[in-house]
Amino acid sequence: MLTHLGTISIETFLRDYWQQKPLLVRNAFPDFESPLTPDELAGLALEEDVESRIVLENGSEGPWQLLNGPFEESAFSQLPETHWTLLVQAVDQWVPEAQEFLEQFKFLPSWRLDDLMVSYAPQGGSVGPHFDFYDVFLIQGHGQRRWQVGPKADDDSPRVANTKLRILKNFKVEHEWVLEPGDMLYLPPQYSHNGVALNDCLTYSVGFRAPSVGEIIDDLATDAISHHKDHQRYTDPGEPLANSGEISPAAIEGLKATLQKALLDEGLLRNWLGRYMTARKYPELDISQGADADWAEQLYSGALLQRHPASRFAYSQTGADSAQLFVDGEAVATSLSLAELLCGGDALDWQQLQNHLADKGGRNVLEQLVEYGALYLD
Ligand code: SIN
Ligand code: CO
Repeated sequence: MLTHLGTISIETFLRDYWQQKPLLVRNAFPDFESPLTPDELAGLALEEDVESRIVLENGSEGPWQLLNGPFEESAFSQLPETHWTLLVQAVDQWVPEAQEFLEQFKFLPSWRLDDLMVSYAPQGGSVGPHFDFYDVFLIQGHGQRRWQVGPKADDDSPRVANTKLRILKNFKVEHEWVLEPGDMLYLPPQYSHNGVALNDCLTYSVGFRAPSVGEIIDDLATDAISHHKDHQRYTDPGEPLANSGEISPAAIEGLKATLQKALLDEGLLRNWLGRYMTARKYPELDISQGADADWAEQLYSGALLQRHPASRFAYSQTGADSAQLFVDGEAVATSLSLAELLCGGDALDWQQLQNHLADKGGRNVLEQLVEYGALYLD
């Protein structure tokens, strides 16, 4: 895990930069070794299950043309010499070294982490000036890229027409840096940015997701509805009226109290947040690997229990030794110690798990996770 961002301590970063303002970190990863090569990245873009795209600055159909993967090998030989970018999402789910690299970001909540996206671009390659709703760490993996950063933008900012990409029409450059391998740029959500490859260039983007308020209300309300009975209703304050047509401040207070009781319940919020934030990025992909029935014996004989790279784990303490464990959008009650072990991220051995396996509840949880595929034997 990173303990410093360049010369800045994690505490200072979290206090002064995280979710607030951009930060350029020179040499954030001294001797950075790219977990994959451009050829390996292109190989991933051929795979059915991998999300990939190519952005052409001057496409046959017009400027800023977007092509969606998976691609045929021949697609790459048809690309121009310069000014295009290949982007591959969730490389951490497919390349173990890429997943390991994400360990560096454990100073932030893992359930906020979305994925590691990797891009390759020849000289001039760029996806155009744009903004994201993500916190993102942009790490230069190979070659050089010139990053320009401008003010915050939003959905009302004018965009370039006739492209599926959301390219900002008026991009005002406020900062400009050339990033070398191992350098990193942190951008909070909405900051406009434009990265142009100066030569053959690999860029790693570590993105952190945050639900929009609209999504929160929508999804949380759906959760809450299932817990409420039709007889639970708004009640009026029963106050003397000057005009029977008035919706009084007390009536609005009454509605507020009703909603508070219905939506702001701690248990409901905990469950919703845990389940929502651990939903898998690609829930349609089957992660089960046909677990062996004798997995516990194999563990005893020295095998290690690993978390599936696509699985998302989180927990929340509910008592002195109890917790809600969230895995891939499901909640289960466990002991706090088991939840902590499973969410620590390390491979687990027999020694660490033997007490939990001896406990009926603990064994059940482990059994379920192995069967489903979130845990597997290495
Ligand atoms: C890129 O890697 O070229 C684009 C990343 C970004 O701007 O979010
Ligand atoms: Co971006």
